[in-house]
Parts: sequence; structure tokens; C-alpha cells
Amino acid sequence: PPMENILNLDEMEEIAAKQISKKAWAYYYSASDDMFSKSFNNAVYRSILLRPRVFVDCTKCDLDTTVLGYNLKTPIYVSPAAMARLGHPSGEAGIAEACRKFGAMQIISNNASMTPEQIVKDASPDQVFGWQLYAQIDRKKSEAMLARINKLKAIKFIVLTLDAPIPGKREDDERTGMTGRKAAVPSGIKAAERSADDTPNPTEGSGGVGQQLFAGTDPSLTWTKTLAWLATQTDLPIILKGLQTHEDAYLASLHAPQVKGIILSNHGGRAMDTAPPAVHTLLEIRKYCPEVFDKIEVHVDGGIRRGTDAVKALCLGAKSVGLGRAALYGLAAGGVEGVSRTLQSRLFDPWTGDLVTNAPVVLNDEMKTCMRLLGVERVDQLGLQHVCILHLLLV
Ligand code: FNR
Repeated sequence: PPMENILNLDEMEEIAAKQISKKAWAYYYSASDDMFSKSFNNAVYRSILLRPRVFVDCTKCDLDTTVLGYNLKTPIYVSPAAMARLGHPSGEAGIAEACRKFGAMQIISNNASMTPEQIVKDASPDQVFGWQLYAQIDRKKSEAMLARINKLKAIKFIVLTLDAPIPGKREDDERTGMTGRKAAVPSGIKAAERSADDTPNPTEGSGGVGQQLFAGTDPSLTWTKTLAWLATQTDLPIILKGLQTHEDAYLASLHAPQVKGIILSNHGGRAMDTAPPAVHTLLEIRKYCPEVFDKIEVHVDGGIRRGTDAVKALCLGAKSVGLGRAALYGLAAGGVEGVSRTLQSRLFDPWTGDLVTNAPVVLNDEMKTCMRLLGVERVDQLGLQHVCILHLLLV
């Protein structure tokens, strides 16, 4: 389907659902238990109202920002998500191509369906990647991976995911069989970095892709032990992903400067159901330990479907905002074009200055419209004064 007809991420999701196998869809779409956190992640943004200021010159607006000092053309980034080739043959490299066009950062999953070398192969000099680690019980495997990552110039930091030491109970993923005409996933697609003995080939056997991918993942990680190990394996900055409380955000800040950032996330509702959305955790940190914002960068993901959602997260103190399913849905719906459409920003290619399109477009464009209507030219001007959160303030 022509991507230029798609005006928002709900429409993209509808197309994606029709394009890929039932099994791949169940894996992408599913979340734990009753999928409450998955839907609340987005619903909480609906409950926050924006406070537009008027009589402000809103001719200009750009989305330029930085993460760990690296320049980006948008605060929207692509979260680490496994198995992109279940959505489209171009896989994680296709996502990278779209990110390159829009100056967006991409975090590569430990369970990507292509090798990191393949994914960053065509990186532009300015392009920013992170690599996400699930520390393996067999630590030698993770050490070998980190040695390879250390050599890839395009990869600027390591993301250690902490919210899913064990997988959640994702019933749709469990229920949907691997076999059968509609259920079948394209053959030969698997996690590129997981060896045959501990990784599924999701075309075989039955059961959840999520469960199978977790085989071999170490559930015994702890603050001091694991960070000390990581320090012996890489000099890259560390971002901890999956923090859900102000207590853990504070503990993370005590590990600066090794830990340079955190991602507030409940894994898109795929680990603990009824875990809080990133918005709640942001508000907790603001209330109980605001100094965390000065010591480390705070990023968020979960439930972003509109430019206004992303702007609200930035107003509450997030430095950047990740897309998990939305990027995979874009890829499934239209390959590189689909991810581009998802991220797209009207007018100009950030690096070359060439006109990309005149059509009304999706996330970056929605963000710019939102910021201009708020009376804001740059993302660093966004703050608490732009949102109404009286009903969310904690006692
Ligand atoms: C994920 N997520 C994830 N996170 C991670 O650290 N490593 C991984 O391999 C994966 N894999 C993965 C697969 C799929 C199919 C999904 C949907 C998600 C979680 C992801 O990084 C992110 O936290 C959430 O997806 C954000 O929520 P939204 O944007 O999907 O609502």
C-alpha cells in the first residue's frame, strides 16, 4: 500500500497487521497478562493536557537535540526490538536506512535478526547507534559480542536491559502456533547472535517466540556485580533500560559516570503487567530525587503513538523518546518506506537539506506542529509549564 496515504500510526498498525504472518503479528503485538500496562502506557498520555501559549512567533521550529553529547535531528529514536526480519526482509538494516534519512538514533537488540556489522554497514558518519545487551548465563558469549561491538565505530553506547530478567506471560504469543498456512513465519529467520542450541528458529516447534528468545538469558544480574563485570568488557558508556521506580533511578545515578543514562520503560508492557508507565516514573523522580536529571540522562519509551505523546514526555523531563512496536509496524507495513513514514518530518532531509516531501506526514511532523502551537521553537524549551498534570501529582 502507498505509504503516503498513511496519516497516523493507527493506520500504519492496521496495514502492518495485514501484511505479516499471524505468528509474527502475535509476537510483535502481544504483551503480558491482560496487556494493561501496554494500553495504559499510551492512555496516560491522553490524560495529560497541553497548555498552548499564544501571541508567540511560531514561524520556526526544529527538533535538534543530543543524546550523550551526540547530535540528533529528532528526539524520537528506535528502541531495541528483536527479530525485525519477521516484519520485513530488510530487517534492522532497513530501520537503520530510515533512521539515517531523518537523523534518528537506533538501538540494536541483542536478539536482532541481523548481525550488528550488517546493520551498521552503511552508517553515515553522523549516525548514532546503541547496542542492547541481555547478559547471557554463558558470559563468554556476551563477552565475545561486546568485543565485536567495541570495534564498531557507529555504536556509541551499550544499553543493558533490566526489566525482563525473565519473560512475561504473553498469551497471544504463546497461543498462536508456529505452523499452519497463515501462522507460518518466513523460514530461516532467527536471532543472528544466538547459537542454535539456545535459540529458537521460530519456524519450528511451538510456543511463544518471546519465551524461546529468553533461553540462556541470565536472571541473576545485580547492581555492583554486573556493572563491575561490564566495566572489564567495554569502555562504552552504559545506559540502563527498564527502570520503573524512583528508587532504581536514584541507584543508577550513583553509578555515574559509568552509567550515563537510564531508559524508563516497562518493556512495552511485555514484562510485568500493571507496572507503571514511564510518565509515572518521571513524575516520581521529579518529586523524590530530581538531582538524578543532573547526574544522568533520562530517556523513556512505551506507548508513543502521536507527536503530542512524545512532546509531553519531553515536557516532563525525558531527553529522548523510544518507539518499539511503532517502528516494527512501520517496517512490516512498508519496509524502509514504512519506517520513514513513521518517523518522517516534512520538508527537508536533515543532512543534505534536500526536499523530501510535501505531503502531510507522521511523528516528527506531528511533534513540530505540537511545539509550534505551544509557542516553542526548540526541544530544550519544553518544560512543566506546557502540561497540565495536576491530577497526576503524587502525594
Ligand atoms: C521489544 N522490546 C525489547 N527490549 C529490549 O531491550 N530488547 C529486546 O530484544 C526487545 N525486543 C522487543 C521485541 C518486540 C517485538 C517488542 C514490541 C518490544 C521492548 C522495546 O525496546 C520497548 O521497550 C517497547 O517496545 C516500548 O513500547 P512500545 O513503543 O512498543 O509501546
